[in-house]
Amino acid sequence: MTPLPDQIADSLGRAAAAGVEPRAAAGLAICGMGGSAVGGLLAAATVGPRAQRQILVVRDYALPPWIGPDWTVLLSSYSGDTEETLACWDAAAHARRVAVTTGGALAERARAAGVPVVGLPSGMQPRDAVGYATVTALEVAALAGAAPDLRSELEAAVELLRIEDCEAEAGALAETLRDRVPVFCGAGLTAPVAYRWKCQFNENANRAAFSSELPELDHNEIEGWGDRSLLEPVFLEDTHAPARIARRFELTAEIIGGARRVLPRGASRSERLFWLVRLGDLLSLHVARLDGTDPAEIPNLLRLKAEL
Ligand code: PA5
Repeated sequence: MTPLPDQIADSLGRAAAAGVEPRAAAGLAICGMGGSAVGGLLAAATVGPRAQRQILVVRDYALPPWIGPDWTVLLSSYSGDTEETLACWDAAAHARRVAVTTGGALAERARAAGVPVVGLPSGMQPRDAVGYATVTALEVAALAGAAPDLRSELEAAVELLRIEDCEAEAGALAETLRDRVPVFCGAGLTAPVAYRWKCQFNENANRAAFSSELPELDHNEIEGWGDRSLLEPVFLEDTHAPARIARRFELTAEIIGGARRVLPRGASRSERLFWLVRLGDLLSLHVARLDGTDPAEIPNLLRLKAEL
């Protein structure tokens, strides 16, 4: 597997090299599923308050009806053969389309239609290509005028990830989650990271896990934490969180009887997000190792795709 910092570095400039031209769009829709969709969610969070247009992630067979010809639509599928994403390919014919994939039907259709294809290296699990998916979405967002160009911020994130190691932290956290069902909670920048951690736990460790986010969880879920016999809350906090959100993490942890609390390293949004993404990825691999599970095995997912 290509290490995350190498994926980020290798992704920079790929969209422009594939022929995606700068053209202001009304918004950017990123269509994909599972490991290919999460890059869109992480990209939107990385941009955060710097967004200049809407950045929307579609995990379904169809686009919202209000997406018009002035939108850019990024079709993201590692295999290129995911049926929901291919349905969105058809549904987006009226908009400017860009594909990001290793091949499959998506690459074939895009090439036949003269649509730019951002090619990805093959041989990985789709979810392992998260650096490629996220940075490609960020680059297309910048080329569509939906976000500023974050190249220098991403280059700094590459340096941080190459220097700082979080293997020991991931291993220690994995030990605390043995025989537990984690509920990963985030807010703002860390909300899609919490979702990423849940998905990696599900797919790499083949274990149940859930995710939720503040402030919403304070309005419902906080009442459901009475029985802690199985569930383990893990709070993904942010060193730059607004004061009210930081206070909510504090108080929520106190009220539900404690939570494991994780903070990112780094200064910029890109550094903090990717640092946490890597920590969660390593965590899921440590848990898989402790359980004797092969992280590449996703039998239920494959069976469902085959039987559909
Ligand atoms: O990680 C995985 O294998 C899945 O979540 C896939 O990403 C998902 O099923 C979609 O497939 P693809 O990424 O090939 O479009």
